[in-house]
Amino acid sequence: MHAACHPLAIRLRALSAEGPIVVAHRGDSRHHPENTLPAFAAAVKLGVHVQEFDVQASRDGVLFCLHDENLDRTTNAARTLGQGALIAQCDASQLRDLDAGSWKNASCQGARVPELEQALAVMLPQSMPMIEHKAGDAKLYAALLERLGLAERVLLQSFDWDFLRAARKLMPTLAIGLLGPDATDQISEHVLAAARELDASFIHWHAPKVTADGVAAVHAAGLLLVTYTSDTQLAWSGGAQLGIDAICTNDPGAMLAAQHRGLLRRSS
Ligand code: G3P
Ligand code: CA
Repeated sequence: MHAACHPLAIRLRALSAEGPIVVAHRGDSRHHPENTLPAFAAAVKLGVHVQEFDVQASRDGVLFCLHDENLDRTTNAARTLGQGALIAQCDASQLRDLDAGSWKNASCQGARVPELEQALAVMLPQSMPMIEHKAGDAKLYAALLERLGLAERVLLQSFDWDFLRAARKLMPTLAIGLLGPDATDQISEHVLAAARELDASFIHWHAPKVTADGVAAVHAAGLLLVTYTSDTQLAWSGGAQLGIDAICTNDPGAMLAAQHRGLLRRSS
């Protein structure tokens, strides 16, 4: 299947026709602890169409939603497991016991580090999951998505393009996104060639590094362009004018409000 014809790419293109799609970065992470079920559920409630979140594997091969490889910033692991514990060195049973809410606010105590499977159950069908692979073998992702019958209903992206190559071999119909910048910084021919090789559906680039030429090149290649991570009205409006298809934000409620006020329409 050519990436431009992937059902999820077609849906994203339709959603972005009048302005950039709001992508909730780690759920509604402004108001809830990032990458937790309350953050994902809140973004669904806001009416967010796409949710980005980070995924890694436990020592015993269960996929969990967490950004840092070290558990200290967003959980109480320093107290219960000792300082500096890494997710890849913990078993699922240890991770399930952690509190991933108190660091944000005492009222969020009790939020857990969710498994990928739980996150998908909360998001679908209202929000399209944009899974960011941080760590874990492609076989783990393929096994879970295939067991759940969801390989064609999620977006999978990574900075690790070798991981994406492995994922593509295992999941021929997956919608894939290349995260960058890579060493070249810009959306160069090298990046577009990698996207072609992977039959990727989108490029996801650091917003300050995106230029008008980059947007044109991505669109000419039949791909969508997503940017991360922008939290101001100025950046959202600028992205709309530049033709960005979707914007990752930590404050999806505020971006949706700007969208509803007509502030993110593209000028013709
Ligand atoms: O998905 C884009 C963005 O989330 C990548 O950076 O560090 O926030 O995962 P990071
Ligand atoms: Ca991320």
